[in-house]
Amino acid sequence: MKNIRAALKTISFFSVFSLCSTPSVAQENIPLDVDLTASANIQPTMYGIFFEDINFSADGGLYAELVKNRSFEFEQPMMGWSQPATDPYATNENSGIANTLHFADNKTNKNVLRINVFNDQHYSLVNEGFRGMGIHNGEGYLLSFYANNPNRTIKNVVAQLIDAKGEIIASTKVSLAHADWHKYESRLVAKRTEEKASLRISFEGTGTLDMDMVSLFPNNTWKGREKGLRKDLVQLLADLKPGFLRFPGGCIIEGRTLAQRYQWKNTLGQTDSRPTMVSRWNTEFKHKLTPDYFQSFGLGFYEYFQLAEDLGAEPIPVLSCGIACQFNTGELVPVSELDPYIQDALDLIEFANGTADSPWGKVRVEMGHPKPFNLKYIGIGNEQWGPQYIERYKIFQTVLKKKYPDIILVSGSGPFAEGQMFDYAHRELKKLGADIIDEHYYKDIAWFKNNATRYDDYDRNGPKIFAGEYAAQSVAVVSPDNKNSWETALAEAAFMTGLERNADLVHMTSYAPLMAHTEAWQWSPNMIWFNNLQALATANYQVQKLFSNNKGTELVRITHDGKPLTGQDGLYASAVTDKQNKSLTLKLVNTNAQALNIQLNMPAGVMKGKATVTLLSANNLQAENSFASPSVITPITHTEKFNNVATYKAPPHSVSVISIPVMQKNISVKQ
Ligand code: AHR
Repeated sequence: MKNIRAALKTISFFSVFSLCSTPSVAQENIPLDVDLTASANIQPTMYGIFFEDINFSADGGLYAELVKNRSFEFEQPMMGWSQPATDPYATNENSGIANTLHFADNKTNKNVLRINVFNDQHYSLVNEGFRGMGIHNGEGYLLSFYANNPNRTIKNVVAQLIDAKGEIIASTKVSLAHADWHKYESRLVAKRTEEKASLRISFEGTGTLDMDMVSLFPNNTWKGREKGLRKDLVQLLADLKPGFLRFPGGCIIEGRTLAQRYQWKNTLGQTDSRPTMVSRWNTEFKHKLTPDYFQSFGLGFYEYFQLAEDLGAEPIPVLSCGIACQFNTGELVPVSELDPYIQDALDLIEFANGTADSPWGKVRVEMGHPKPFNLKYIGIGNEQWGPQYIERYKIFQTVLKKKYPDIILVSGSGPFAEGQMFDYAHRELKKLGADIIDEHYYKDIAWFKNNATRYDDYDRNGPKIFAGEYAAQSVAVVSPDNKNSWETALAEAAFMTGLERNADLVHMTSYAPLMAHTEAWQWSPNMIWFNNLQALATANYQVQKLFSNNKGTELVRITHDGKPLTGQDGLYASAVTDKQNKSLTLKLVNTNAQALNIQLNMPAGVMKGKATVTLLSANNLQAENSFASPSVITPITHTEKFNNVATYKAPPHSVSVISIPVMQKNISVKQ
């Protein structure tokens, strides 16, 4: 290490000397040796995404529905809706009234809106959307609703998109031609862009009308699917080229109570028959209350599988293991009553992979996907800990492996990155021969920089590792003041070189949480922020994308003085080759405030052509991307001719990804 130290000493001198001039650079080169002998395969699943319905990521986010509480099933059935009688400024409060009728015998959709229009004074209902509705100029929107108009005295429904001043952005009139329940549809085209539009529905005629499932979707969704997903958000996910998609949580799969756990079977079939359920993030944090956070399950398991398929990612559904969130009630299913939970897992495999003549395979086929989803993994529980988890996991493992020996079970080590419970879980799961253990760490910046060696001494004869949830916290875990600063992203990049160097053991990794609505979030930091019109890739997203897009296929060695670069004097590195692209890719993370001159020693005669260098950096560690300046931290790429002994200047506080074409014969493959 003496070379790096010497180099940094020189840098310090130059920093003082060259204040206010160009950034100082080490005068001595730091030699790094690259050896192209493959030591492990990089799994295609190495970098993936973890989608949890937190921060309005599903309803109000990825799921493009614009109407909040479309079926009047929230605990307060009119939440999100207003009418003249509830508007203190309305002058037509005597124009009509709406109340919900509750049909206790209905299995899923229990509430219906009964509307009485008294006169022609423009009785109207307004839906506020998810902190408004994002409407784009010139784009089309599909309105749909069910109506029951027994006396046919209400003639038309007029639907308008309006801004805060009541100005009309789009409008349509739907004639109510049927007396009994009927589904109506109509299209609106927006005359301008508006971030905070509302949907106003008014009525022509007088009398009584029942309505349900009032819905509005943009036509312009991901892959143009009707009533589908928000295109800009899915595009950001697709650009990551994720190896897997873990869904739908996170703590939401556990529920605060067992009754509120995520039950995938409730999320299938027609969206209007999927029951609405409160989100466990609704009032979880006193400092970030979102009492209007419910799950419509419009984005359900079929849609998650379809999304994974679209992204070319392995689907990794996570199921309740019979323990409610241990930060909440920790309610337990007695082991003697665990069968339905295990049956859910068995049925899920059949739903994803079964043939059309199997009961659950048939459901998938009827929903429009004849081909299997090719499910290979299932998560059993999320952040459970203690003997109760191990006891339940063991039963799942015994039953599932008996029927489906090839299915890979993802077990968990709980919410702790280390400590007694963490060690206990690892010890017991190893004894059980668990396939892969999910570890979570929401830690400070220093922890990430100090933990690039975390996996170097892990047991190679035990379960594989899934670094399933991690993010550097600039203040503290669950602090609302955490930022997506360049400093956090740089620390994560440093840590990720350690994940990659241990790719023989670490088979899957994902940042968390994935996304958040700027006005309806509970948790920060997040990889992607969005408002009703735009999506923002953070510095942390850019790091994830850079690693994932350059993951390679074989792990090779990059060393200094024969040792891996794990933060000695602020420098981290990993290296891979790619047998398809015939390239060698180096990832160099310089956490110093000074540039480092690096000398890359490559085996003679392996290089062919120019290297592509992609650089992420910022002149200020606190820099962040924002909607106003989305590209403060963005990759910049150039090409450079490298020789077998090449010099490279790693800028201060930077991540460099150097991809060098190499001769096919020099790519060794790990069998
Ligand atoms: O990512 C947010 C939460 O953090 C997840 O739901 C949970 O698994 C972890 O505690």
